[in-house]
Amino acid sequence: MPAADPTHTVHPTPVTHTGAHGSLPGGEGRKVFFVSFGCQMNVLDAELVLGDLDRNGYGRTDKMKDADVVLINTCSIREHAEDKVWSLLGRARQVKETRPKMKIGVMGCMAQRVKDEIVHRAPHVDLVLGTSSFRSAVQDLDDLFDGGGRIVRTSNRPDPVFLPDADRNVTVRPDAYRAFVTIMRGCNHSCTYCIVPHTRGKEVSRPLPEILDEVKRLVDDGAREVTFLGQNINTYGQDLHPKRKHTGEICTLLEHAAEVEGLDRIRFLTSNPFDMTEDMMRRFGAVEKVMPWLHIPAQSGSDEVLRRMQRTYTVAQYHEVVGWARTHIPGVEITSDFIVGFSGETDEDFEGTKRLVEDIGFLQTYVFKYSVRPKTLSARRLPDDVPEDVKKRRNVELLGVQDALATKRNQGLIGETVRILVEGISKSDDTRISGRDRCNRIVHAPGDASMSGRMADVQIAEAGAHSFIGDLVRVEGDGERWPDA
Ligand code: SAH
Ligand code: F3S
Repeated sequence: MPAADPTHTVHPTPVTHTGAHGSLPGGEGRKVFFVSFGCQMNVLDAELVLGDLDRNGYGRTDKMKDADVVLINTCSIREHAEDKVWSLLGRARQVKETRPKMKIGVMGCMAQRVKDEIVHRAPHVDLVLGTSSFRSAVQDLDDLFDGGGRIVRTSNRPDPVFLPDADRNVTVRPDAYRAFVTIMRGCNHSCTYCIVPHTRGKEVSRPLPEILDEVKRLVDDGAREVTFLGQNINTYGQDLHPKRKHTGEICTLLEHAAEVEGLDRIRFLTSNPFDMTEDMMRRFGAVEKVMPWLHIPAQSGSDEVLRRMQRTYTVAQYHEVVGWARTHIPGVEITSDFIVGFSGETDEDFEGTKRLVEDIGFLQTYVFKYSVRPKTLSARRLPDDVPEDVKKRRNVELLGVQDALATKRNQGLIGETVRILVEGISKSDDTRISGRDRCNRIVHAPGDASMSGRMADVQIAEAGAHSFIGDLVRVEGDGERWPDA
């Protein structure tokens, strides 16, 4: 799943969470220093916990040295993501030496995966909450402050009754106009390299009415765009209707969500090449509010490597799926993930991956060096035999191919006008606004903060590999509501 620029990217960078619509809440209560690593689902899990903390009087701080609570939401997808948490825990231990009443909590995938190691290696950690146990965070912290001892909760069975989003405090999210909504947790696939089925368990879908209710509450709170999250959204709902083989329930969800008045844009992550049908693509394409952007991780352009990864499709089948998307979703853009240096990956296999990137023409690709995750199928059965320097070289080379190609493709957009939902002032230039167009392209244009949350038409003037700069044609006025088209 793509991560944590809290927008729509795919990468484990830490996010220090702010409060309702981006500000630090000024709560008088105990101050929480909260850091989240990992994918969008983690970003949302963080928001769920912060929402609970907010309504129970906890405040927030962005300085660990001022904190009464340090809470870390963790990611296990690659070794590097876990290393960062260990080093943060080291810093927290030092701070705790000067603030002995401070409580330290670890939640999420790493808490689930290595709870014993955390308990032994980090005796200063007071709270360990696995991937389906984090909604007790407030109660647990209260108990700790009341003098209780260390709490470790890592049930590995997400129970639909306890799916933690139902009573979400919808005001806590990165900005007022966009929101994530988890529609399912866990994964039933067994890609050999992947830790997710180990940390997040089997697939559990949330009932459709509950999701729609959450969408309505978010829209009432000002959201114009929602992104539905699941590890493999293609099979959303199959566990709710086990007798029907392929329900396409995700399409039904999108169709219903599109009827929510006030919601302009719907996105979803992650679509996989497997469990996808042409009919599903047809239904995606038929809903105006469903944005023409799909994240379809390919992982490799070699059939041999895909087989060892247990991805259950071939390169030809990947092309077929993208073909369906391009036939049925006008103007669709595709983004993807690749792993380089997987077990046994030869130069020839890697050439196949480069060819796939060239042949498809992705808007964006995320490239990862294979990282062995303990207890996964590949860790147990396949050697990690591609040297680190070769992984690194392939990583750089593949990104180079993608960037050159994307720059060229993107320049084809110069002169065109796209409609963006303005997210706010650009991070790199405060005379510009930034937003995303329907295809999830990042677009910058001259503007100011008053335009946040409005639709704007921008004529593209410059195009790079990752973003666009344009001239503002017009902006939605006060009280106006443009259709997004
Ligand atoms: N199905 C999930 C996958 C999440 S992991 C989803 O929602 O997309 C995100 C990406 O991390 C994967 O697509 C894969 O490219 C990469 N990844 C997963 N395990 C990895 C590993 N062991 N080493 C390197 N990259 C990995
Ligand atoms: Fe991981 Fe494959 Fe599921 S990448 S999350 S096992 S679809």
